[in-house]
Amino acid sequence: MKFLITAGPTREPIDPVRYLTNRSSGRMGYALAGAARHDGHEVLLISGPTTLDVPPGVDFIPVETAQQMYEAVRDMLRGVDVAILCAAVADYRPVSCADQKIKKNADTLVLELERTPDILGSMRSEFGFTGKLIGFAAETQNIIEYGRDKLQRKQCDMIVANDVSQPGIGFDSRENAVVLIYPDHEEYLERDTKEHIAMQIIEHATILPS
Ligand code: CTP
Repeated sequence: MKFLITAGPTREPIDPVRYLTNRSSGRMGYALAGAARHDGHEVLLISGPTTLDVPPGVDFIPVETAQQMYEAVRDMLRGVDVAILCAAVADYRPVSCADQKIKKNADTLVLELERTPDILGSMRSEFGFTGKLIGFAAETQNIIEYGRDKLQRKQCDMIVANDVSQPGIGFDSRENAVVLIYPDHEEYLERDTKEHIAMQIIEHATILPS
């Protein structure tokens, strides 16, 4: 099967030396890419900036901004059987990026922000993607309810939801504990390394009902 996986944070420039970003190490997405490749699949990883090594045998497109990630995903969907969108995409970006470094003249600074494109939300409606679609959800409450709502709104086959209010798991850490949310049931994957969680997610992804 052919997998497309997004990972890492995006960076939305404010001026030549500053940007807005999200807390994300990219580990979950890279672990997914490694696990899918290990299982013999063809894998394309599209990632924002991280300090991680690309797993051997995985095709790689580095991006910085949400817009670049959106365009890379849109342009690379041909032949993809399973898309797993794991990136922590910035939801807002500065309306404009200053040409020169902004000097700290004033006591307060107001940045005007606008929405970035919703990549997951565009997969079916704009890109016409017909393969299996898996989204991630980071929630602090009502995990199942919010996750199932996202599953339906974004026409996903599965949502991988994690509770980011729990210390020691989720973004920026080595371990995770997630709930796989399907249209009619849930499955809990107990706390484990991101590599082990990734292997289980890939197994579930390959047997998603059509
Ligand atoms: N995502 C994306 N493009 C964005 C933002 C998020 O593809 N611009 C993807 C993430 O990779 C992840 C999922 O969407 O798979 C997270 O959902 P998102 O809609 O960002 O979650 P919330 O911020 O909780 O959104 P909402 O307010 O709609 O619940």
